[in-house]
Amino acid sequence: MFADDDLDIVHIAAAYKLTPPNPQATIAQLADLPGTLSVCDLSLMQSGDLMSRQYVHGYEPSEAIRLQDQASTLVELLHSDTHFPEGSTVLEAGCGVGAQTVTLAQNSPGAKITSIDVSAESVAQARRNLQSAGISGVELRQANIFSLPFEPESFDHVFVCFVLEHLRNPVDALVSLRTVLKPGGTITVIEGDHGSTYFHPESDAADAAINCQVELQRRAGGNAHVGRQLYPLLDRSGFGNVRVSPRMVYVDSSKPHLVDGFTRKTFTAMIEGVRTPALEAGIIDAASFDDGIQALYRTAETDGTFCYTFFKGFGEKAPAA
Ligand SMILES: C[S@@+](CC[C@H](N)C(=O)[O-])C[C@H]1O[C@@H](n2cnc3c(N)ncnc32)[C@H](O)[C@@H]1O
Repeated sequence: MFADDDLDIVHIAAAYKLTPPNPQATIAQLADLPGTLSVCDLSLMQSGDLMSRQYVHGYEPSEAIRLQDQASTLVELLHSDTHFPEGSTVLEAGCGVGAQTVTLAQNSPGAKITSIDVSAESVAQARRNLQSAGISGVELRQANIFSLPFEPESFDHVFVCFVLEHLRNPVDALVSLRTVLKPGGTITVIEGDHGSTYFHPESDAADAAINCQVELQRRAGGNAHVGRQLYPLLDRSGFGNVRVSPRMVYVDSSKPHLVDGFTRKTFTAMIEGVRTPALEAGIIDAASFDDGIQALYRTAETDGTFCYTFFKGFGEKAPAA
């Protein structure tokens, strides 16, 4: 697991051939370093996959750090019931830099986990992150959900987290993943829903900044409100016994770990990360966007509160007749 205090900024920067100013470099400092490598560009060259070019969060080192902050903060909420039995085979689709992979491996030490991502660079980073976390035995490979390099009915379980929101055709992705599940196998899907965001003090400026992310994702073919659709998506993809549970994060200043780990470093950092594309796309002007970010940080002050709901869905592939 990557605790907030353990974030290995030096390690991540080194992986991207950057020299951070100091080991305590902030996300903003790291993102501002000259010569930041676009992992997205690399993966595009290698995969030719259009979706990855449109992946709204990008593949910058700051995004890798944000994903790790997000994973460590939300482990209990999202994964307290993620356990795969000893000897079972698990496919994690869209593993990114391995932020969830670490938890999967720790929660299910006897399972045989295969983690894939369309980005070769993310897979390479995931390999380094797993190594740093002392985890071995996870098979990592570059692969596309829409053309999986596995025989049909290869896996007992499939796990997908924060991937459907970026896809133009989530049902096609789920159908593809269902193909590689054994009869009677299960799928676990976790997604957020930005429409579930509310906070105190309320702010139209903050809503407008959040809407930049929603709009960019929509223009790229994704859906930042996908969490509320998990039930119909899994149902339409042919899964049975579909169950979805909301996982709400509620933050106030009695929970300083969440104020820092979720309100600031996960949610606000994510919205802050779309400043340049939002301005370039003409969705908002700089002053309005910056007001919105300031208003989001304002919710992390002593009298502020912040709420967000994730959705965790389960489905089963029908057992063999
Ligand atoms: C927001 S990240 C989530 C990463 C990880 N699941 C986590 O929660 O930290 C979404 C990931 O999905 C990957 N992805 C997007 N489309 C994909 C596809 N068609 N096949 C495989 N991976 C894909 C992206 O490259 C990216 O790493």
